[in-house]
Amino acid sequence: MKIISHRGASAYAPENTLKAFRLAVEMGSRDFEFDVHQTKDGYLVVHHDYSLLGTAGRDVKIADLSWAELKKINVAQHYRADKAFQHVPRLEEVMDIIGPAADWLNFEVKNDGNVYPGIEEKLLAFINSKPGMFAKSLVSSFDHGTLKRCRELSHDLKLAYLGHGLSTVLLLPAIKKARAVRAVNFHLALRIAFKINVSRIKKAGFNVCVYTVNTKKDARRMQEIGVDGIFTNHPDLLGKWTLKG
Ligand code: G3P
Ligand code: CA
Repeated sequence: MKIISHRGASAYAPENTLKAFRLAVEMGSRDFEFDVHQTKDGYLVVHHDYSLLGTAGRDVKIADLSWAELKKINVAQHYRADKAFQHVPRLEEVMDIIGPAADWLNFEVKNDGNVYPGIEEKLLAFINSKPGMFAKSLVSSFDHGTLKRCRELSHDLKLAYLGHGLSTVLLLPAIKKARAVRAVNFHLALRIAFKINVSRIKKAGFNVCVYTVNTKKDARRMQEIGVDGIFTNHPDLLGKWTLKG
């Protein structure tokens, strides 16, 4: 079972910052998830929300800022333990840190309602520009239009269906949507990661990864029900859990 660092080692450093990614690498992570947005002037950057309210206390959208403006803002402002300056990193900067260590890279594209037109082309060009990166890359999105556009752009790019607000009843339509874009992975919220759902998705031919798993108990349960990977804010637990496979 893959132990995927979620937004870097985000339990110990401001999420999705260079500090969090450095820590994840130091903790032995080889599998990484992070959230991709685009600035007003077209730079790919890594941050969870569309706005900076939750991290910097400023209700301003990434889409409305240039990279030059964005990089001056402290997104560790609201982090309890360490408010030392951290900027929203460019994807390029994140990759300089995690790229050499990575076996698997999950680019989660935040693009609800196509708020970042052209982000799919830009991301694909980025992935293709780095030797060996395409093979270890997988793109996921809560936005189905984003997955469809990625599939139109590339026959072979690995895609993950990202379930949002799913229930057992809604699983079948979700599996159909995942098939429609030829996704290889299906990413499921821990809330509905029960054996019956995981088995159903796996039977349909997908790898199942579950977000966000932060306790040893849940990690063990995920392993027992055949989950292929867990997203965790605690990548240091990798060794401690002595998970097999
Ligand atoms: O990619 C898995 C997980 O990160 C999706 O949810 O809201 O944490 O980006 P969120
Ligand atoms: Ca995410």
